[in-house]
Amino acid sequence: MAAPTPHRTDDWWRDAVIYQVYPRSFADGDGDGTGDLAGVRARLPYLAELGVDAVWFTPWYLSPLVDGGYDVADYRTIDPAFGTLAEAEKLIAEARGLGIRTIVDIVPNHVSDQHPWFRAALAAGPGSPERELFHFRPGRGENGELPPNDWPSQFSGTTWTRLPDGDWYLHLFTPEQPDLNWAHPAVRQEHEDVLRFWFERGVAGVRIDSAALLVKDPALPDFVEGADPPPFIDQDEIHDIYRSWRAIADEYGGVFVGEVWLPDAERFARYLRPDELHTAFNFTFLTCPWEHGRLRRTIDDTLAEHAPVEAPATWVLCNHDVTRTVTRYGRADTAFDFASKRFGTPTDLDLGTRRARAAALLTLALPGSVYLYQGEELGLPEADIPRDRIQDPMHFRSGGTDPGRDGCRVPLPWQADAPSYGFGTQAEPWLPQPADWARYAVDRQSDDPDSMLALYRRALLLRRTEPGFGDGPLTWLPTEDGILAFRRTHGLVCVVNLSDAPTALPAHKRLLLASGPLDPDGTLPTDTAVWLSA
Ligand code: NOJ
Repeated sequence: MAAPTPHRTDDWWRDAVIYQVYPRSFADGDGDGTGDLAGVRARLPYLAELGVDAVWFTPWYLSPLVDGGYDVADYRTIDPAFGTLAEAEKLIAEARGLGIRTIVDIVPNHVSDQHPWFRAALAAGPGSPERELFHFRPGRGENGELPPNDWPSQFSGTTWTRLPDGDWYLHLFTPEQPDLNWAHPAVRQEHEDVLRFWFERGVAGVRIDSAALLVKDPALPDFVEGADPPPFIDQDEIHDIYRSWRAIADEYGGVFVGEVWLPDAERFARYLRPDELHTAFNFTFLTCPWEHGRLRRTIDDTLAEHAPVEAPATWVLCNHDVTRTVTRYGRADTAFDFASKRFGTPTDLDLGTRRARAAALLTLALPGSVYLYQGEELGLPEADIPRDRIQDPMHFRSGGTDPGRDGCRVPLPWQADAPSYGFGTQAEPWLPQPADWARYAVDRQSDDPDSMLALYRRALLLRRTEPGFGDGPLTWLPTEDGILAFRRTHGLVCVVNLSDAPTALPAHKRLLLASGPLDPDGTLPTDTAVWLSA
């Protein structure tokens, strides 16, 4: 094998493989049924062996966990269910010792209703300076009985809640997540301090939750269909906030990844200007169907929109909010859309798994960085959670039609023959694990050279040791219909067959990796991908 191409330490993020840990469901170190930092620390060797460059932790701070920790009560305290600040510091250092950087998750759009600021605002009453940190307003209608405006919620349902004292407050998500008023200097100051707090503790990066939502049109006008941008998202003033955040990150050599869901490519790219965020999640790719033309267009558009700002693209197939990849790709509709999630959607998991394996090789060969959500490397499907065990507010706020996001948040199976598949020791996990998950357990897959885990381990090793991966140019190769084939530098070629028929491979010196068996005549079957050295 060729000599490893070492990352330059300052631009590691341009082509990193970043593993997302959902701490509640990764590994339970104290046996109480909830994952924790002790569990993560014990499994760091697993992440090192997998070969990831960084870990992004979804929020681990003090939280009532109404929205899985995206309702933060205190950024400087680890939730006792997960551990302590001292443990987090140890975890960051131990991970770094294994070559793994840490990314924390900051949720600047809102806080928990248990945050001291919101509690003080409730206690202080209408018109108080404490309420200016949030969006409190009198209602409309004769007696203020109507909400101040008609903004739609990101979680369906209303965005305003009325208090007994008559004031209404804004929450783009649940009522337990009041939106902060980013026009207030104290809100800016506090978040700058929080960034410093975590950079001081050695984190290498920050994922920014709901990154385009912070600033609202100060008049809080009604939402007019077609308004671009709507008054609660992507306001121009937001860029000033990220410019000041960038200056702080630069002091520490830290990086940002923004959760920016915006349909307009040009407006999306503004967040990635050289003095703003380093990267943002590629949701166009995440939501794209398993279809040759759509994928090709998405890849081209992504590269074209990032080029002028010289930011690297990110490639994401799933996360803690969306249907797991093997399930999505095994359905008639292989796109992802929050609005169309329903119980009982027919799924062919063999088909979905074949496609997810091919998608893994496609994704890891594209220029830029890659996000991998815990369990994706095990090929975990979306789990059916019995209705009486569902916890996700998205389910309840949809009136029970949306299954919610718990199906992708089920505790990981580590050992086929242990209680809770080795997730913890004694207690029943906080979400039930399906009865047939022994086959996905890490120990079982580690012994099987054809497993999804074995594929990911080999792919990540090749991505580190063979030249041509990561940042850099991509050139499409001429192909038959339905085939994605591109060349990177150093003769690296990736071919993915999304057509109905087998296809011949281009001339090559070596087959580096295949997502599934080739046909006996050496052709590449449908829904299969290869990496070649040409
Ligand atoms: C996006 C997060 O990924 C999601 O889990 C959360 O519910 C919302 N933002 C609100 O914070």
